[in-house]
Amino acid sequence: MVHNGIIENWRELAEQLRTEGHTFVSDTDTEVIAHLVERELSGGCSLAAAVRATLREVRGAFALAVMCAGEPGTIVAGRRVSPLIIGMGDGESGEGLLASDIPALLGRTRRFWVLDDDQVVVLRPGSMLVTTLQGKEVEPKELHVDWDLEAAEKGGYPDFMGKEIHEQPRAIADTLLGRLLADGTVELDEFRITDDELRHVDKVFVVACGSSYHAGMVAKYAIERLARLRTEIDIASEFRYRDPVLDDRTLVVGVSQSGETIDTLQAMREARQWDAKIMVISNVVDSSMAREADGVLYTRAGPEVGVAATKTHLTQVVALELLALYLAQLRGFAEPADARVLFADLARLPELVERALAPGRDAEVAEIAGKFADTRDFFFLGRHVGFPVALEGALKLKEISYLRAEGYPAGELKHGPIALIVPGTVVVGVATRTHLWEKMMGNVAEVRARGATVVLVANEGDEETAAQADEVLWVPRTHPLFAPVIDVVPLQLLAYHIARAHGHDVDRPRNLAKTVTVE
Ligand code: G6P
Repeated sequence: MVHNGIIENWRELAEQLRTEGHTFVSDTDTEVIAHLVERELSGGCSLAAAVRATLREVRGAFALAVMCAGEPGTIVAGRRVSPLIIGMGDGESGEGLLASDIPALLGRTRRFWVLDDDQVVVLRPGSMLVTTLQGKEVEPKELHVDWDLEAAEKGGYPDFMGKEIHEQPRAIADTLLGRLLADGTVELDEFRITDDELRHVDKVFVVACGSSYHAGMVAKYAIERLARLRTEIDIASEFRYRDPVLDDRTLVVGVSQSGETIDTLQAMREARQWDAKIMVISNVVDSSMAREADGVLYTRAGPEVGVAATKTHLTQVVALELLALYLAQLRGFAEPADARVLFADLARLPELVERALAPGRDAEVAEIAGKFADTRDFFFLGRHVGFPVALEGALKLKEISYLRAEGYPAGELKHGPIALIVPGTVVVGVATRTHLWEKMMGNVAEVRARGATVVLVANEGDEETAAQADEVLWVPRTHPLFAPVIDVVPLQLLAYHIARAHGHDVDRPRNLAKTVTVE
């Protein structure tokens, strides 16, 4: 058997099984399931009936699949909370496939179904049967997947991460398509929350994990600035357990590439209890969160195979900017003169990201990465929207290069971290032109004065910034609110090239999972 998740009552079940004569070879919750299935099978029932009976006894979150020697050619699988996708190959003897998410199976089939909580599927060559835990047959829910096979191949790149970084201009263009209209308005399609309900909202919570959280941070700046709506951003695993104050005028926006991250999913469910309106920004159509939310805004990045998020992160920021503009449109722009400039700049983002990724730029970043191949500690600094960019740059480096990287709001430097700056410490600063550029440069001067080696993300042609840097990561300029979409690109490339220089597998970093379906 294969099990993903946590069985909460495993100790008491194990105790009971031991008294019945079962011998355990490990101290894991997973083994308990195997013994429970064995117990049911020895009573003479089928594997499917044994798994159903077992799942009626266990508490917790799980997605599991079981095979047994007595019933060759059969896989029985079930789930609760943790996701499980079924795939079926073509033809009468088509293979049955199971995975946590779609990208894992894209190379094998285009036909997918989703298993709901407390359902069990019996897979045999060319057939599948879905039932409840009581054995009642149910119609499986087919998933609409328009991702093509090409998206699941490396297409000439050495790894998926490299390919996915370079797919970002297309992914952003697709995410904007049909939403940013020629008349300078935003239209959000798959939105099942009415405009009246949105006008009623007086507070927004953005809840997410990992890179999605960093994307969510950008929403706070955009929604508060453009729509003057109070916005809080929370890490999902904290939000769940800290008694946030929510009511029917609260909009909770879950940001999740997979739509399956357990902490974010449970945070959504928690918010539902308080009658809040729930919205999700997800890359996976019909993901668990998308199915449960009142409204969905899909990022159209295509499948992301590399564990470290890149194109999904950028498209999440774009989707959140669209949401901010939509809310401002409904409630009135804080500064009406803003609107026209913003729409024009948003539409240009694919082209500007393309420029940040041009072969010449990529080669420059690779060269800079080569100079830091032996550096073990990095600081990433930013202010305002540059702060989430600094956090995301640091996270990328940690994830795939296994190097210590700290992201900080630059203004906070003097409250502690500056004690760590010594000659040769590498500081990467986001120093593109926003209204805080001068203050940011003041912070850069503080670290330079202490001997830091300074790498700055700077706008093309900005020699004044370049003069304060040992190395420059050039990016095109855009409206400050959209700068996170562009400024993070060279930081993705920097992490990517440093990781490759170290010989790491950038697609499958150690200890990390693409979709975290356990707490
Ligand atoms: C994992 C992945 C990250 C991702 C995070 C949140 O940690 O490795 O790349 O940002 O989960 O995932 P989600 O699917 O909710 O966006």
